[in-house]
Amino acid sequence: MVTLPSIAILGTGSMGGAILSGLTQPSVSVEGGIRVTNRTIAKARPLSSAGVDSFALEETPDASAQALKGARLVLIGVKPAMVPDLLREIAPALEPDAIVVSVAAGVTIATMESLISGVVLRAMPNTPAVVGRAVTGLASGSRSTEADVALARTLFETVGTVLEVPENKIDALSTISGSGPAYVFYLVEELTRTAVGMGFSPDEAAAMVNGTFLGSAELLVSSGVDPAELRRRVTSPHGTTERAIEVLQSADLKELFDRATASALARAKELAAG
Ligand SMILES: NC(=O)c1ccc[n+]([C@@H]2O[C@H](COP(=O)([O-])OP(=O)(O)OC[C@H]3O[C@@H](n4cnc5c(N)ncnc54)[C@H](OP(=O)(O)O)[C@@H]3O)[C@@H](O)[C@H]2O)c1
Repeated sequence: MVTLPSIAILGTGSMGGAILSGLTQPSVSVEGGIRVTNRTIAKARPLSSAGVDSFALEETPDASAQALKGARLVLIGVKPAMVPDLLREIAPALEPDAIVVSVAAGVTIATMESLISGVVLRAMPNTPAVVGRAVTGLASGSRSTEADVALARTLFETVGTVLEVPENKIDALSTISGSGPAYVFYLVEELTRTAVGMGFSPDEAAAMVNGTFLGSAELLVSSGVDPAELRRRVTSPHGTTERAIEVLQSADLKELFDRATASALARAKELAAG
């Protein structure tokens, strides 16, 4: 059983909603409850449940202030461009001991600390949070204590695993694990298209490809064996897999991933520069 103090989530869309789903599991007790906000009623209404008060700004103009009353952990889940305005607006309503944790890409702790006087942390979760399998990078701020970081770690551990990293590594982490689910889904899409091109139905192709990704990931994690060794075990000398791997290696995937992540990193810097 995990116990957390009162939590507010401001901006409860895809990512905020995924984290909310972790917090509402029976194994998690949030003392003082959870209050979440969104702009629209359409987004806010479905999130109401036992222990969750969900506010829409279009219906309750002081929703942020209401959500922040008594909140010890404040998760900022709006789009990066909206973070500075939101922080400016909520600064007077934050509790003195509130820990503000932003999941916004590219918005630095220095920027956020210039807008509010309390503790600020940065986190970078990923969408497998929805199924309790997130990888979250967590960076401390200049005003945070070890206890503040530990509390935020407990929050994100309700949806998966947490890596504490210095803030100067958060953008790099984001290009691997934050964006990473998109890379995996892209590989799934393309291999599925190849299977369909060979004459399998879309359902058959999905069964083969999804099952292979899931089974391989589970094998990797449960065996603890290095992925290169697991690959070797599928690759008999002079066999069929060896031929396919030779073709993939000639495409220099490492160089491709280097370029893709460098491009994502450049975009994070653009976002940070506003
Ligand atoms: N998606 C990812 O994989 C991922 C991964 C890591 C980090 N992040 C970060 O998570 C943040 C949110 O991304 P997302 O994909 O979850 O976007 P999203 O689904 O659009 O969620 C943003 C939510 O914020 C609400 N909102 C807008 N202005 C608000 C305000 N002033 N007060 C309260 N709520 C407000 C929106 O409500 P309405 O729709 O009602 O306007 C929306 O539900 C971003 O900063 C992003 O960098 C995302």
